[in-house]
Amino acid sequence: MKISIFGLGYVGAVTGACLASHGHTIIGVDVNSQKVDDFTHGRPSIIEPRLDELLSIAVDRGLVRGTESCIEAVNETDVSIVCVGTPSSVSGALDLSYVRQVISELAEAIAAKKNKHRIVLRSTMLPGSTEILVKEYLHDLMEVGLVEVFYFPEFLREGTAVKDFEKPALVVVGTCDGFPPPREMEPLFGIQIEVVKWNAAELVKYGCNTFHALKLTFANEIGRFSKRLGLDALSVMRILCHDTKLNISAAYMRPGNPFGGSCLPKDVRALTDCARRNGVMLPMIESLIPSNNQHLYSLLKQVECSDCREVCILGLSFKPDTDDLRESPMVEVAQTLLGRGYELRIYDPQLNFAELVGSNKRLIDVRMPHLASLLKKSLSEALGEKGMVIVSQKCVELSELEKHIRPEHQVLDVNGWTELKLLPVKYHGFCWEL
Ligand SMILES: NC(=O)c1ccc[n+]([C@@H]2O[C@H](COP(=O)([O-])OP(=O)(O)OC[C@H]3O[C@@H](n4cnc5c(N)ncnc54)[C@H](O)[C@@H]3O)[C@@H](O)[C@H]2O)c1
Repeated sequence: MKISIFGLGYVGAVTGACLASHGHTIIGVDVNSQKVDDFTHGRPSIIEPRLDELLSIAVDRGLVRGTESCIEAVNETDVSIVCVGTPSSVSGALDLSYVRQVISELAEAIAAKKNKHRIVLRSTMLPGSTEILVKEYLHDLMEVGLVEVFYFPEFLREGTAVKDFEKPALVVVGTCDGFPPPREMEPLFGIQIEVVKWNAAELVKYGCNTFHALKLTFANEIGRFSKRLGLDALSVMRILCHDTKLNISAAYMRPGNPFGGSCLPKDVRALTDCARRNGVMLPMIESLIPSNNQHLYSLLKQVECSDCREVCILGLSFKPDTDDLRESPMVEVAQTLLGRGYELRIYDPQLNFAELVGSNKRLIDVRMPHLASLLKKSLSEALGEKGMVIVSQKCVELSELEKHIRPEHQVLDVNGWTELKLLPVKYHGFCWEL
């Protein structure tokens, strides 16, 4: 392929050298003439293992050169990759001015060239940015088929950038409609790719970097706490990482219900209390309970925003296949809705209040005796004729729901049971749009 790369910094220089090592012809573009000159002569302007070797081989093979001219780069290539910086402004907001500058120049050059050109955006940009930039500069060219735009987030890490380029942790391609890119783009994107719409690809990139920051902060907070207790956090974290079933895995990574139950809230509270008493501040771990409360609050807000005054809760305990009600978020939801005057019914096939014993029974007797009277024996009784159905768990079969639900109902899917969308009623996803 003939590829132009805009921005010859860390991402652009590595991308150029690696693509040239695959045999592609590369024209590097930068506003910094020194970087253009370095690229042309195979001199890396950054320190990165193996970059000098790859660049000098590419120069010897006549596969790379630099220019400051966008027009020249567009005329001589079929694809432009944009890797210019997207720094923080003083307020912390994302500064897209460099990307804007490149896109406006690309638009002019492509309009003049009058041949189909593909633009691949790699700069890290907030969800919605590609769409905005396309509307501002490329809409007309797209309409007439002269431009195709992809958002292709970059995941390489400085220090191991060449290795990461060759073996990326993740390959995500954002397209305008979420449909796969054309076969001609395979040499650039590969074949094992996740394809989504532009804005989802943009969010995946932010999700990844935020997750990395979160993991590091978690390890550091556990580290500070361990040190105060005279413990070795390196071995604690090493052992913690040995659990690839629940810890280093996709477990607990689905958005949906707030966390609850007899362990997580209690243990997070105990750990933060202990750290505080030992003079160790753990702001991230401290934020877990407030964040969880905020999540529950947003669930209540969604119910409030609907016009329903009748509510049926499907699944009262904190997860399926248990009757443990301790710190179940849905108990909190039920109590709040009752307090706000909603007509409430509950269905949970795992729960039989008459048979509850121990702390579960005490909880019911002391804190919520009224809830027992709201628990219905059959699904149809619980659903009633109309109202919001808050589905916190998959505790009934879809076919059962189908039999009893009416057009006057609405469904609030809290747990990502997306087949609920098939029901002939209004569907609300708690944290997602389908
Ligand atoms: N550095 C990383 O490890 C890394 C990893 C993944 C993603 N990213 C993202 O990739 C993007 C680029 O990051 P970077 O670290 O390579 O940035 P960088 O600052 O090292 O390089 C950006 C380059 O763009 C050039 N430039 C600015 N305006 C230009 C224009 N109008 N035309 C041509 N060139 C122009 C600059 O002169 C500079 O050489 C950012 O959005 C960043 O968040 C960076």
